[in-house]
Amino acid sequence: MRRPSHRNAVLIGIGAYVPPTRISNADLIAGGLDTSDEWIRARTGIATRHIVQPGVATSDLAVEAAWRALESAGTGEVDAVVLATTTPDRPCPATAPDVAARLGLHEVPAFDIAAVCSGFLYGLATAAGLIASHAADRVLLVTADAFSTLINPADRSTAVIFGDGAGAVVLRAGHVDEPGAIGPMVLHSDGAHSDLIEVPAGGARQRVSGTEPRAEDFFFRMQGRETYRHAVTRMTEASAQAARLAGWSMTDIDRFAVHQANARILNSLATRLEFPPDRCLSNIEHVGNTGAASLALLLAQSADSGLLTAGHKVLLTAFGGGLTWGATTLIWPDLPAH
Ligand code: ACO
Repeated sequence: MRRPSHRNAVLIGIGAYVPPTRISNADLIAGGLDTSDEWIRARTGIATRHIVQPGVATSDLAVEAAWRALESAGTGEVDAVVLATTTPDRPCPATAPDVAARLGLHEVPAFDIAAVCSGFLYGLATAAGLIASHAADRVLLVTADAFSTLINPADRSTAVIFGDGAGAVVLRAGHVDEPGAIGPMVLHSDGAHSDLIEVPAGGARQRVSGTEPRAEDFFFRMQGRETYRHAVTRMTEASAQAARLAGWSMTDIDRFAVHQANARILNSLATRLEFPPDRCLSNIEHVGNTGAASLALLLAQSADSGLLTAGHKVLLTAFGGGLTWGATTLIWPDLPAH
C-alpha cells in the first residue's frame, strides 16, 4: 500500500555495542542462583549475556553504539537524537542530551522515550515523525539498556533472561520506495496490564503512597507466564498487520526480526505465521533479552554475519512492558560492512 507522504524515513546506518563482560549460565549458578543450564536453555534459549561493569551506565553503551551507527552512515551530523531506554542514567533529566553532547552534537534536540522492549519501534515511529514534519532531515535513534542495573540478582525468573547492550540507527529524509525506507508502522499499548512488567518503587506513585518501599521494590519484576501469553498473541497480530499494510504476503518476507525475549516466543511466532526457521533472525543465545536495544542489536549483528543482506524484505516486531507492542517492515539497504 502506497502512503501519501513523499518524505519517508530511510535507514542509512546501523551500529551496536555490548559490554565485554560475558556471563554464562554456569557463571550464574556459580554465583549462587538456584537454576540450571538445562532449564535456562530449554525455557529461554539463552546461553550467555553481557553485563556492564561497575561505573558503566546506559549512556556509555549508547555512545558506543551511536559512534558505530554514525560511522556506518558516513556522517557526524544529525538534527535530532532520540534515545529509547528503560534504564536511564538518572530519573531526571533524560539521558539523550548527555549522549548527544558526548557525540559532539551540541544543541540538537535530544530526548528519551520509554516503551520498554518496544523502544526501537516506538523510536522509529518518533524519528519518522520528526522527519515527516520537517523538524529534522537526519535523526540518530539510539536504543540502550543496562538491565543488569535493574535486576534482582536473586530473582531467578528475571536474572537469567536479561543482558545489557545498545543498538543505534541513523535515518534520513528520503522516498518511500528507497531501500531502507521504514514501512507502515503498527503500534499499540494496553495499560490495563501495566502490572505485568514493572519496577514498583522510585516513581511518583510510590512517593505519594505514604508507605516506605521495600528494597526489592526498586528491582524489575515480571509475571513471566502471563507476559509470554500476551507477547505471542500481540506480536503475531501486529506482524500480520504490518505485512498487510506493506502489501507483502508472508512468503515475500526474507527475514523476520522479533524482539529477542525468549526463543520459545520466536518459535511460536514463526509457527503461527508459517515462517521457515531459517528466515528468523536470532541472537538471544548469546545476548539474552537486551530490552529496548534488542531489535537494533539483532539487525546489526545479523548484517555483520551476512544473514541480513541488501534487498532482503524484513518484518520487525517487538513487545514490552506497558504493555506496548508493534511491528513494521523495511527493505534492507546496502550498508558498508563494519
Ligand atoms: N531456573 C529454574 N526454574 C525456574 C527459573 C529458573 N531460572 N525461573 C522460574 N523457574 C521455575 C518457576 O519457579 C516455576 O516453578 P514451579 O512450577 O515449581 O512453580 C517453573 O519454573 C515454571 O515457571 P514459569 O514462570 O511458568 O516458567 P516459564 O516457562 O513461563 O518461563 C519465562 C519463564 C522464561 C520468564 C517466560 O515466562 C518468558 O519468557 N516470559 C515472557 C517474557 C517476555 O515476553 N518478555 C517481553 C517483554 S520483556 C520487557 O519488556 C522488559
